[in-house]
Amino acid sequence: MSRTAVLVSCAELPTGDGDDDAVVPALTSLGFSVEWAPWDSSFDFSSADAVILRATWDYAARRPEFLAWCESVPSLVNSAAVVRWNTDKSYLVELLDAGLAVVPTSLVAPGSSPSFPSSDFVVKPSVGAGSRGAARFASGADASAHVASLHAEGHTALIQPYQSSVDTDGELALVYLGGVYSHAFTKGAMLGSTLDSSGLYLAEELAPASPPADAVALAEDVLDAASALLGILRAELLYARVDLVRGADGKPLLLELELAEPSLGFRQTDPGAAMRFASAVRQQLA
Ligand SMILES: Nc1ncnc2c1ncn2[C@@H]1O[C@H](COP(=O)(O)OP(=O)(O)O)[C@@H](O)[C@H]1O
Ligand SMILES: [Mg+2]
Repeated sequence: MSRTAVLVSCAELPTGDGDDDAVVPALTSLGFSVEWAPWDSSFDFSSADAVILRATWDYAARRPEFLAWCESVPSLVNSAAVVRWNTDKSYLVELLDAGLAVVPTSLVAPGSSPSFPSSDFVVKPSVGAGSRGAARFASGADASAHVASLHAEGHTALIQPYQSSVDTDGELALVYLGGVYSHAFTKGAMLGSTLDSSGLYLAEELAPASPPADAVALAEDVLDAASALLGILRAELLYARVDLVRGADGKPLLLELELAEPSLGFRQTDPGAAMRFASAVRQQLA
């Protein structure tokens, strides 16, 4: 029986950025007919068996419209409820409150005034992707103008101490497929690098990695806690990427949990990862 899988992109990058290229033949070999389509196109998403968010890089500026579209698609993975929760970084505060090791995070909603950490710090929009709107400030700097510009665009600002391990070690991204660990890669420091030629995201430097045990342990706790907050099983997450940094004490901290459209680093890992992804899609439909 042939089934259809749609990989969802955006108008500017209709077939993604290349990271998912190996996923297409893997899905095909497991019986899917595969197509790419931008989320805001006239494509008929309602008849597909699996509609997989992969490269919807432009949602941040149009999140209400994007979430309404997600809710209109019956077979969206990850689900619209997961996407709603995960596309606002306020979830970091929920995970902090659940007792997880998360980069200290404070939220400044439009109308309230910020207070800044005494160390170097980062100000970024709570809804954002591809590092857009994120800026680093030196300790003592007045970032009020940046907060005000995020507020003027309707964003809540998110303030975190700058984690300087990003400059030396980068971020460690652990990828889970169907709730099960698949592979990991590192990502270099982003703030200070330049936008990709598409202008949609900062060009990233990725390399394969074998995660140490303390990083895997935190990633597992993050997935359990996120699934509990969402009221779902881990296995219901087709994909999850857990981005970790090391704090000043050397212990891993969660920087971001990506459940909406993360780059999964297929080009940085073993060719089996694309097949594990395709198998996880089959599991979602079973
Ligand atoms: N608290 C922080 N300390 C150090 N670097 C940060 C911090 N927050 C963000 N960054 C840098 O900015 C990039 C983008 O921020 P992130 O929170 O991952 O948002 P997104 O990837 O959704 O744009 C990160 O990959 C990292 O390089
Ligand atoms: Mg990130």
